[in-house]
Amino acid sequence: MQLTLERSVVRSWRASDAESIARYANNRKIWINLRDAFPHPYSIHDAREFIRATRSRSPETTFAITVGDEAVGSIGFVLHRDVERVSAEIGYWLAEPFWGRGITAEALAAVTKYAIRQHALTRLFAVPFAWNTASCRVLEKAGYVLEARLRNSAVKDGKLTDQMQYAFIA
Ligand SMILES: CC(C)(COP(=O)(O)OP(=O)(O)OC[C@H]1O[C@@H](n2cnc3c(N)ncnc32)[C@H](O)[C@@H]1OP(=O)(O)O)[C@@H](O)C(=O)NCCC(=O)NCCS
Repeated sequence: MQLTLERSVVRSWRASDAESIARYANNRKIWINLRDAFPHPYSIHDAREFIRATRSRSPETTFAITVGDEAVGSIGFVLHRDVERVSAEIGYWLAEPFWGRGITAEALAAVTKYAIRQHALTRLFAVPFAWNTASCRVLEKAGYVLEARLRNSAVKDGKLTDQMQYAFIA
């Protein structure tokens, strides 16, 4: 898969992406905004295992965000099942040196369209922590709408927090 955008190329993961991703992912400011399944510290072994697992899955739902063919982030969605098979949850992170250039908002809008088209979805959603104003803004820029504030719905780094539920309706 490859989506050529103005600010980045979103493409399939390659084994050779492991070193750059291990370097950029090893950042507490990224980890603090993601689920605990995202390792911290983040080692080269974690990067290799992530890429191996991602490449072995079908359909392919997680992609590298690349700039100048260097992997600088990840974006992916989890397809729901059964009666919720028209829905998917989307998630993403970007390397800190690349923040604030509109890269994620553009990638999010493109992958949202791709997921809807490929999997006949009617809904994509995300649930950033309430403190993550940058992610809320990225979702709004990509056309997502705030549906709910899920009060006291998560614990991160020992802190109970609300989550903001955003959705894009096809
Ligand atoms: C959230 C994240 C993906 C944003 O990536 P990015 O490429 O910098 O995002 P964009 O440049 O497309 O947009 C960022 C927007 O948030 C705004 N923003 C950034 N920090 C902000 C803050 N502290 N408060 C309010 N707005 C903020 C920017 O001004 C920009 O909006 P604008 O274009 O209207 O000025 C990146 O910061 C990241 O990887 N964070 C850690 C992981 C994470 O939070 N993942 C999402 C989990 S739900």
